[in-house]
Amino acid sequence: MPPAAQKRIADLRERIEKANYEYHVLDQPTIADEAYDALIRELRELEEKHPELVTPESPTQRVGAAPSTRFAPVEHARPMLSLSNVFDEAEFRAFDQRVRKALGRDDIGYVCELKIDGLAINLTYQDGTFVQGATRGDGTTGEDVTANLRTIKSIPLSFRQKVSGRVDVRGEVYLPKKSFEATNKERAERGEPTFANPRNAAAGAVRQLDPAATAKRNLAFFAYSAAGLDVASQAQLLQRLRDLGVRTNTHWRAAKEVDAVLAFVNEWRQKRQELDYGTDGVVVKVDRIEDQEKLGFVANNPRWATAFKFPAEQATTTIEDILIYVGRTGVLTPVAALAPVLVGGTTVKRATLHNLDEVHRLDVRKGDRVVIQRAGDVIPEVVRAEVDAREKGKDFPVFEMPETCPVCGGDVEHSEGEVAYRCGNPACPAKTGQRIGHFVGRGGMDIEGMGWALVTQLQERGYVADPADVFFLSKEQLLGLDRFAEKSATNIYERIQAARRRPLARVLNALGMPHVGWTTSEDLAKWLAPKLPDKPRFADALRLLREASAEDLQAIEGVGAIVAKSIYDHLHDPEEQRGLDRLAEANIEVVPPVVRAIAASSPLAGKTVVFTGNLENRSREDAEALAKSLGAKVTGSVSAKTDLVVAGPGAGSKLEKARQLGVKVVDEATFEAMLR
Ligand code: IVH
Repeated sequence: MPPAAQKRIADLRERIEKANYEYHVLDQPTIADEAYDALIRELRELEEKHPELVTPESPTQRVGAAPSTRFAPVEHARPMLSLSNVFDEAEFRAFDQRVRKALGRDDIGYVCELKIDGLAINLTYQDGTFVQGATRGDGTTGEDVTANLRTIKSIPLSFRQKVSGRVDVRGEVYLPKKSFEATNKERAERGEPTFANPRNAAAGAVRQLDPAATAKRNLAFFAYSAAGLDVASQAQLLQRLRDLGVRTNTHWRAAKEVDAVLAFVNEWRQKRQELDYGTDGVVVKVDRIEDQEKLGFVANNPRWATAFKFPAEQATTTIEDILIYVGRTGVLTPVAALAPVLVGGTTVKRATLHNLDEVHRLDVRKGDRVVIQRAGDVIPEVVRAEVDAREKGKDFPVFEMPETCPVCGGDVEHSEGEVAYRCGNPACPAKTGQRIGHFVGRGGMDIEGMGWALVTQLQERGYVADPADVFFLSKEQLLGLDRFAEKSATNIYERIQAARRRPLARVLNALGMPHVGWTTSEDLAKWLAPKLPDKPRFADALRLLREASAEDLQAIEGVGAIVAKSIYDHLHDPEEQRGLDRLAEANIEVVPPVVRAIAASSPLAGKTVVFTGNLENRSREDAEALAKSLGAKVTGSVSAKTDLVVAGPGAGSKLEKARQLGVKVVDEATFEAMLR
């Protein structure tokens, strides 16, 4: 290997790691995003030329292959415990008294930290290298989520200083509030249930099957404890972790007295809305490790720490009505219309009741006094009804779903065992209105100025019955609308014409196929890109998608069985054909994503590859992921469609079949050479 390349790679890695540390741990970036991207790009290119120099700790290697089994169990070296809670000053003083008594001293020092609303994980480092990450699980045994945790930039793949032996770092993985809101918005658009709080959303992201999907979620991490580092206090531990390049939360404070603890709690109770992550309290820890060891544990809780919980942001109000919203997929969602009330700094007038099961579980009825809260400080929800406050004799009927759609009067359909109730009328204006709204909106073709009022008017006049109809509107039709003068009609008309050229993923997302949001649209676009002609039209993409079987779709990276079936069903649903054909006729130019140049020039691009026998150089999963990343389709059985079989020692029937069919067979060394 050329020493110059080796030196440059080492230099690039060092600069990138320094930039990561400054950005993610110190929160003080020193280089611009573009400069950072340029370093990463150069490193990738060099590593592609010299694959023998790639190491697992390289900053380019965060997203790897999916684990071969679904999250293997991991037994924790020390159990992952939980904390006792205190809810007010008196309870905290009692905790402090117990600590003083047990230690037989009064000069106790505490460290106050924010209690992050996320998911507890354990990171194992061996001689300074990240080797395994696991969820808390039941406290004794968690799940191996190493591949997914590697994608989180605030988790270092190696320490910045030499440390020998094993170190277990513990902390909280969380989803920043903005990403939580974006995730929920996308799920709602796809007609999927939303996450009730950032913790559930973070847990969902950590347990994604494909690390690439986790990487897109923008998770972050704060460490708060560790075993295996030689420190005398919690304060020293936090500093030491930071020096090693592990991100810790900077909002902590040493507190000598109870009053200082109370001051910290009160301060953050007020300020917590300003943070970009959820926090539900303050963790108060006895500072000295020696004292912690003396205090020990009771049951599952340490005696040296407690969680001082913030009061939940709740308020009581009245349900004025239970409304029904009809969504894009026809699902009926009950929503509480509330007497306006202030919760955590915002006025709340509506709270979702999610579905009928939830309404019955809570037993909420029109007219009830209800306690509402902003879960994870974000979505308002009804916590409970004050059933005892119901006036005797006054009728609060149990809420039931209507039998007919409140918008179009069509029959409401419900299958036994399913949660959702749906409007069965394919032409329901609420459904089509929502679909058109989605189609022209930011998640779709992005036609500025086409709001709800305009969509409704166009529907009422019978100008649009289907999203694609928007592209067939004439200037005269627009001019004839209420409150539309020459200028505004011309404006909208021109914006519609400009929307005839859009990125492919955007057009796919605009279709509003069930279970298909941005991520899947992007995956589909990447898959379609190499198959499309020059200057492709939507009609070209549609033809390829219609030709694909559910199995073909499922073979796309990032697309699972349920999503594949949903796409297939949508594209072949008789009721969808008119709209799809009409959009194909609308002369929409789709701009395919730029697929990494390497895939196009790679010897594996578009090839169907089968691996068989044992591989020696890398794991099967690794080899398959590598082949896929170079544009290959990896399948499990040999057929006439197979282009290449990579056979290792022990290969049997597949190798034989390949020989019979005359399929090209190579050994592992030849395969490796092809990769270069
Ligand atoms: S210390 C022995 N510090 O709260 C347990 N925990 O019930 C030591 N948490 O699931 C935990 N922020 O994941 C500690 N600054 C912090 C924390 C924190 C959040 C979570 C933790 C655990 C729960 C404790």
